[in-house]
Amino acid sequence: MISKETIAKINDEADIIDVLSDFINLRKAGSNYKANCPFHHEKTPSFVISPAKQIYKCFGCGKAGDSVKFVMEHEHFSYVEALKYLAQKYNIPIEETIQSPEFIEQQSKREGLYIVNEFAKDFFVQNMFETEEGKAIALSYFKERGFSDTIIKKFQLGFALDSYSALTDAALAKGHQLEMLQSAGLSSKKENTKLDFFRERVMFPIHGISGKVLGFGGRILKNNVKAPKYINTPDSDIYDKSKVLYGIFYAKNAIRKMDECYMVEGYTDVISLHQAGIEHVVSSSGTSLTTDQVRLIKRYSENITVLYDGDAAGIKAALRGIDIILENGLNVKVVLLPENHDPDSFVREQGLDGFDKFVSANKQDFILFKLQLLLEDAKNDPVKKAALVTDILESISKIPDAIKRSIYLKESANLLGVEEQVLLNESNKKRKDILSKQRKEERIQEERQVKEQSMIDDLIQHNQDYIEAGIHIEKFERDVIRTLLEYGGKPYKEDLLTAEYILDRLNEVPIENDLHLRIVELARKIDDKTNEESFSNFFINHTDEELSNLAITLLLGNYNKYDTALSDGWAKKKMHTNTKEQIFKDDIDTEFFWLRYWRIKLLEIEVLKRLKQASPEDDMTKLLMMKKKVDTEKAAIAKEKNTVITPR
Ligand code: CTP
Ligand code: MN
Repeated sequence: MISKETIAKINDEADIIDVLSDFINLRKAGSNYKANCPFHHEKTPSFVISPAKQIYKCFGCGKAGDSVKFVMEHEHFSYVEALKYLAQKYNIPIEETIQSPEFIEQQSKREGLYIVNEFAKDFFVQNMFETEEGKAIALSYFKERGFSDTIIKKFQLGFALDSYSALTDAALAKGHQLEMLQSAGLSSKKENTKLDFFRERVMFPIHGISGKVLGFGGRILKNNVKAPKYINTPDSDIYDKSKVLYGIFYAKNAIRKMDECYMVEGYTDVISLHQAGIEHVVSSSGTSLTTDQVRLIKRYSENITVLYDGDAAGIKAALRGIDIILENGLNVKVVLLPENHDPDSFVREQGLDGFDKFVSANKQDFILFKLQLLLEDAKNDPVKKAALVTDILESISKIPDAIKRSIYLKESANLLGVEEQVLLNESNKKRKDILSKQRKEERIQEERQVKEQSMIDDLIQHNQDYIEAGIHIEKFERDVIRTLLEYGGKPYKEDLLTAEYILDRLNEVPIENDLHLRIVELARKIDDKTNEESFSNFFINHTDEELSNLAITLLLGNYNKYDTALSDGWAKKKMHTNTKEQIFKDDIDTEFFWLRYWRIKLLEIEVLKRLKQASPEDDMTKLLMMKKKVDTEKAAIAKEKNTVITPR
């Protein structure tokens, strides 16, 4: 656990403007800052940050909080993860109260996954630099590829030994849990086995935006084996391949500064470009881009340049999956590299200058690039040309910005030799479809929110009912106790003391309050209850101060004070006149009646809540039976109620 002092230091040092700037674009607006809300979709900024108060609030969706809360919500971090992130950002050493890996791994699954990944990363690095095998096979491989020591260390590259369970064994020996290693995808999930997932591969740790290791990519070194060239960590609680971008941690500041993001295919492309000094580059690791990935980039820049291999496969790949970028409102440029080159090989051959020159000379707008490409292919074939119009309209219609769309439509009309109006009409139709689809999604989203809100309202109502019932139960318990203390030594009827009568009835009514329960238990132990004075004195003089205080308060009749601390309604209703001895017997019945009434009420609240939230695994029959019992009891009580006086 992170110490209180560390948390205080983090809260002191973290500046909300500075913290949020890492994730969203802030604009100054008077003494505050404004931004487009990162938590819901909006066109005009309603997300306001107050540097004076160190808080933010979105007037659109209502999300609000401080730096820690923001990091939690934005990064889907736990409280501890958010604190650790801020501590790292501000170089605050973290004091932890307990530090054993077992303890922390039990504390939080996600924390645990980060910890074992960190361990694995260090282990792989150590394997590469400190074992003969690592130096001979892995390090020399990277060196041959032209990676410098600096870049190898920066990207924390490493090596998984040619061994069945080197990593698993080492981790277990350090106190990590096998289950955690399995959840992180580092050890095989097969029962009764200890098997490393990555064996004899060079390792590329995949970092999240805050630099934590989420997973790994491992590249095989032998050429002649059937195994896949790369294997990646299976999806886990912290690694979702559709959401990560390789290199984002090392690239984010450069992307913001350059206001552009290069998109490449592979791990080695990212690393080589970095080594050459081009840092605004990330990779989708061979899969097609997802909306999540595009939005991740959008936090830092709206301009993506896709760099693709210049062969046929590269061209095809360039056309695929780019609509997802357009859809999210970003600008896309493409660069086709010369044949037989990927960014890695090309930058090694050309150096920084040659690479930069080539990229600026060959950077093309994606839509126009696609159009030209399709045109070349279609030539004068009218069928192909018709298909191409549909295709290009599909892409253009996905662009949310109307002005950009109209510029593209004009250009396309020129190049295609079609009437602009025709394209415009078609595009408007498609746009309508897209918008209605979006609206439908938004409606679903809204409905979900309304449903969630009503669930929360329900919960609050439930809690209020629950608390109210609890207050009443406590109050009537106390009434019973007071009567017990005050009249316990008096005869209830011939041969029966009041204390005996009350204690007997209490056998059927469980007491909730601990202090009350202790009094009841003590009362049961007093042998001679006949002496009225000594019965109450026993409690007044009890050595347990809490207990004697309560006894005194109750016996002195200083009871209204306590009462007002309870529910207001009750305090008002209560017209307490000094209880006359004649009516204390009626009092007992009244008190027990209401105690029973509120206990049933409480049970009802519980049962109804459980019925409402019941999932298929719950025992419905049991719940329904309970509900029936509650109803019967309620009916019985209602009948009785007519004969019972309302409580004083
Ligand atoms: N990839 C993968 N699984 C494979 C092949 C590729 O996950 N079997 C992913 C990797 O992220 C890889 C990217 O696709 O980095 C691009 O693949 P490729 O061009 O084949 O690899 P390079 O990055 O060029 O790697 P190398 O230069 O080491 O061959
Ligand atoms: Mn390559």
